[in-house]
Amino acid sequence: MTINDLGFIHRFIKSSSSSSIARTNDKKSKLTFVLLHGTGGNEDDLIFLGKQIEPAASILSPRGKVLENGMPRFFKRLAEGIFDIEDLKFRTNELADFIQKCSLHYKFDLHKTIAIGFSNGANIAASTILLHPEVLKGAILFRAMVPLVPDNLPDLSNKHILLSAGLSDPIVSTKQTQNLYNLFHKTGANVQLKWQHSSHNLIPDDIVYAKEWLIKIVTDKFL
Ligand code: MLT
Repeated sequence: MTINDLGFIHRFIKSSSSSSIARTNDKKSKLTFVLLHGTGGNEDDLIFLGKQIEPAASILSPRGKVLENGMPRFFKRLAEGIFDIEDLKFRTNELADFIQKCSLHYKFDLHKTIAIGFSNGANIAASTILLHPEVLKGAILFRAMVPLVPDNLPDLSNKHILLSAGLSDPIVSTKQTQNLYNLFHKTGANVQLKWQHSSHNLIPDDIVYAKEWLIKIVTDKFL
């Protein structure tokens, strides 16, 4: 299989500890992050974020295939916050297929794979864990909205989800965030909501908290 067969322009960065003396039982080095950028971003955008959250994790970072006025996104929208649900479902299936193929090609474990998404990327990450829970163990969702409500709610009782939301986000209302939390709660997921004193943009506390959350998940129950 060639890189093109995998389906998305992307970067893959293998866990740093596998090439160093720290190659071991280190649980964190077995993690893979799927980084999903916001509107207008690309596969390079969130690498720094993944590295800050856990430098030892492997990184898979695709570029969204939909263009909105030349800006890459992961699915079409009709207006801000109003999604083209058919396209969202199609793109979610496509992304899940990509993650699956990459796990075989790059040899990483889907049971130790966590999506980290920002804005539009967080929305498709949420959609992916709802429609294809088999490709993710968890998700860190920065400024996410309810992407869709599946006809049949999946059982996400073995999944771990962090919602990091901005109290004064002009794009994602506090109600949207609460609705997303409630949706995940209904699926049985281990979901946590962290409010930040921020707007739509990330602030340092988002990263501080995501690191703490991940350490707790990895040490307590993840591997
Ligand atoms: C979306 O379209 O996914 C959300 O409105 C977030 C954004 O990209 O602005």
